[in-house]
Amino acid sequence: MSNNERKMIKVALPKGRLGDQVYEMLEKTGYECPEIKEGSRKLIFINEEKGVSYFQVKPTDVVKYVERGAADVGIAGKDIMLEYDPDIYELLDLNIGKCRMCVAGPKGWHDDVERTLKVASKFTNIARDFYARKGRDIDMIKLHGSIELAPIVGLSDVIVDIVETGNTLRDNDLEVVETIVPISARLIANKAAFQFKTKEIEDMRDALAKEVQD
Ligand code: PRP
Repeated sequence: MSNNERKMIKVALPKGRLGDQVYEMLEKTGYECPEIKEGSRKLIFINEEKGVSYFQVKPTDVVKYVERGAADVGIAGKDIMLEYDPDIYELLDLNIGKCRMCVAGPKGWHDDVERTLKVASKFTNIARDFYARKGRDIDMIKLHGSIELAPIVGLSDVIVDIVETGNTLRDNDLEVVETIVPISARLIANKAAFQFKTKEIEDMRDALAKEVQD
C-alpha cells in the first residue's frame, strides 16, 4: 500500500514530558512531524506524507478525544484509564511514565478503624474502589492539585495520589502507607477507528512495540 492510500491516523499526545517522550519514540519509527518541535503554540501538527496528525491535549483529556473518536489513538496513563474507565482499546504498555498509585499519610500514621477515614484525592473513583474492596468507610474529599497539603493541614487523614520519585512525599514529611497499583503509559485506540484503520493502527502499535524498553 502506498503512503497515499493509507488512511491518516490522528494521535492525541499528552502535553508535557510524557508526550515528548512518546513523540520521540514515534519519530524514531517514521512518524515524524518536525513542526511539533518548533515550540509554537499550535495544537495540531500534520504530516500528510507520513499519514499522521498530532493533537496536543491535557493528559487527562486524551481519553476523551479517543473515546469519542476525535482522535484515533492516544497515549494516556493507566491512572487515567482506571479513574475514568473509558470505552477504548488498550493496545500497548509503553513502559514509560512509570509511577504508582498510593495511599500516603503523615510519617508513622496508623489507621483508627473506629473512625471514618478522611481521604483526599484527584482520583476519587480509584480511591473509592480501593476502600470499598476493603469494606472501609471513607469520607472522600475531591481535590484538584497540591494533594499532599491535605493531611498536613488536617483536611484529610490520608491521600490517594501518584508517587513517582517520592520527593514530594519526603519534602512534606509524608510516606507511602500502601501501594494500590503500578502505573505506566498506554497506547489506546478508539474502537470504531480500530475497525476502520486496523492496518494503520496496528503498524503504529508494532513500530512502537519495537521501541519499548524493559
Ligand atoms: C504528581 C503527584 C505528586 C507528584 C509525585 O503531581 O500528584 O504531587 O507528582 O511525584 P514525585 O513522587 O516524583 O514527587 P503533578 O506534578 O503531576 O502535579 P499536580 O499537583 O497538579 O497533581
